[in-house]
Amino acid sequence: MSYLTVPLNASHKKKNFTCGKKLLDDYLHAQAKQDVKRRLSACFTLADEEDNVQGYYTLSSASIERKLLPEEVIKKMPPSYENLPATLLGRLAIDTTCVGQGLGKLLLMDALKRSLNTSSSSVGSMAVIVDPIDQDAVKFYKKYGFILLPDSGKMFISMETLSGLF
Ligand SMILES: CC(C)(COP(=O)(O)OP(=O)(O)OC[C@H]1O[C@@H](n2cnc3c(N)ncnc32)[C@H](O)[C@@H]1OP(=O)(O)O)[C@@H](O)C(=O)NCCC(=O)NCCS
Repeated sequence: MSYLTVPLNASHKKKNFTCGKKLLDDYLHAQAKQDVKRRLSACFTLADEEDNVQGYYTLSSASIERKLLPEEVIKKMPPSYENLPATLLGRLAIDTTCVGQGLGKLLLMDALKRSLNTSSSSVGSMAVIVDPIDQDAVKFYKKYGFILLPDSGKMFISMETLSGLF
């Protein structure tokens, strides 16, 4: 399976990365490496020929409360699952020098394809969930089919939907 991104590694230059959202910049600069080491998240990056990071995203295991999901999704799930396994796309960001060139979409597709493949080959997961950082991010994810989960601020897209896309 081929992907645009590779796991964050020591040759990646990340200190100049800025996407305009401090939380996401600080995460890459100061925390991503530690989180990877502690197996809290996997971090995938897109870099130029000089290894400058142009974009990154993180994936982790997560779960969704059954009661938050829409009826049409729930009715297909066995009643014994109170929480359903999911994949958290925790962060996704593009450097400001690269925005508006289609890289955000490419990075999102890469993350969704990776999540779908993992769910069918190695770790069960019935959806990808995101926790949008602000209303702009909500709009971005909505554009690609993510649905808001009630009262949580989170959004999801089912693996069933994704398997029809890839
Ligand atoms: C949101 C972000 C990833 C978009 O990256 P990008 O490379 O500029 O996006 P693309 O050029 O691939 O644009 C893809 C589409 O999304 C749209 N889009 C981009 N940013 C958007 C936003 N904030 N709201 C709604 N739509 C947006 C574009 O108009 C484009 O639509 P089109 O194909 O119809 O023209 C980038 O601006 C970013 O890193 N922002 C800061 C971090 C952030 O908010 N991350 C979101 C998740 S936490």
